[in-house]
Amino acid sequence: MSPGGDGGRDGRGGGGVRHLYVHLPFCVHRCGYCDFVTLVGRASDHGRYVDALLAELEPERGALAPRLETIFVGGGTPTFTTASELERLLTALPAADEVTVEANPETVTPELALLLREHGVTRVSVGAQSFRPHLLTVLERRATPAAVRAAVYALRDVGFDNISLDLLYGIPGQSAADLERDLSDALALGPEHLSCYELEAKPGTRFTHTFGNELAHQAEAMEDYFEHVVDRLTGAGYRWYETANFCVDPEHVEGRDLRARHNLAYWRGRDYLGIGIGAVSTIRGRRWRTTPRLGTHLAALARGEAPSRELEPLPPSVKRRERVLLGLRLDEPLALRGLESAVDLAALGRLEELGLAAWTRGGDAGETVALTTRGRFLGGGVTAELLA
Ligand SMILES: C[S@@+](CC[C@H](N)C(=O)[O-])C[C@H]1O[C@@H](n2cnc3c(N)ncnc32)[C@H](O)[C@@H]1O
Ligand code: SF4
Repeated sequence: MSPGGDGGRDGRGGGGVRHLYVHLPFCVHRCGYCDFVTLVGRASDHGRYVDALLAELEPERGALAPRLETIFVGGGTPTFTTASELERLLTALPAADEVTVEANPETVTPELALLLREHGVTRVSVGAQSFRPHLLTVLERRATPAAVRAAVYALRDVGFDNISLDLLYGIPGQSAADLERDLSDALALGPEHLSCYELEAKPGTRFTHTFGNELAHQAEAMEDYFEHVVDRLTGAGYRWYETANFCVDPEHVEGRDLRARHNLAYWRGRDYLGIGIGAVSTIRGRRWRTTPRLGTHLAALARGEAPSRELEPLPPSVKRRERVLLGLRLDEPLALRGLESAVDLAALGRLEELGLAAWTRGGDAGETVALTTRGRFLGGGVTAELLA
């Protein structure tokens, strides 16, 4: 039996896992900076891959809640998957309140936008990365700035009212003025949500080989870039609800909460099922990862066997530390109940005195901790100090 296939609960007393991740690995080409589980082209495998996804999902359905809160179809480039296969997949997925699909701009035609709209997708996350042609070239992106805008317009035209844009900063050759122009161009499109990531040098990528030293040298300047991102977006009415994530403040959109609910589930330590190659699942204190090897995966599922999965040890102490690390990325207080052994209370006291953490004792929620704005700018360093 698969680890998640026995009617597992999500640890909150509810009836089953409420969050599903579906990995679609195919891309038109591999961007030099990316280390996700991706495969170039393989159009002839798309159908077999969707068959495998559905075969992998079937025995897990009993572990899922009758209605899911969120589904995230990520990649890879989900919108590069052959349209008929993407349609078949979306039709077969369970119902959910939030269904996000990641899209690369150059793949978002009016037809594709309509397909998503008509098959239950509620939110589209568009990988813009930058609007500066010379930076898109450095990133080896296929989309032009015009294609990014056209993608957003096509999604708006079919009625999408929850669009997220991904931006990268710290791209080699990117000046502070370039960053400011990227933020302005993104804001001009009126996205409900923005994810702004500092470009990371992933080990073993072409990009790190070429630009690794340059990224290391500019690390200090990135603190200013990060502060600029936060100032600019909060100044424009966005809520900085997670280290790298922003959404239109509810007061500007009739109270709508536009945070990414699927990612919130990860940051809050909820259980989730992941299907597809390389996908991770965490259910009832157990974590496993499906094999990243396409051939092995397709062959096993075509034979009617369970997919090859690697169990990752997840002792409660690690889970608690993870809760602190992820929970403190959010702008909401983290309840300390059950996490006391993961937190160094003396360090917390010191960080409070330095104005980097807010520690609330008592109250309905019991003891809670949150990083202050200054603490959030320092981010990982403060959290590392806090861990016991
Ligand atoms: C794996 S991609 C999938 C989405 C889509 N294929 C795309 O490229 O836009 C998800 C997001 O991860 C971010 N990302 C990928 N590689 C990164 C890196 N080396 N450093 C920081 N962010 C990265 C990008 O912003 C990207 O939009
Ligand atoms: S398109 Fe996205 S997932 Fe594919 S290689 Fe580029 S960054 Fe990675």
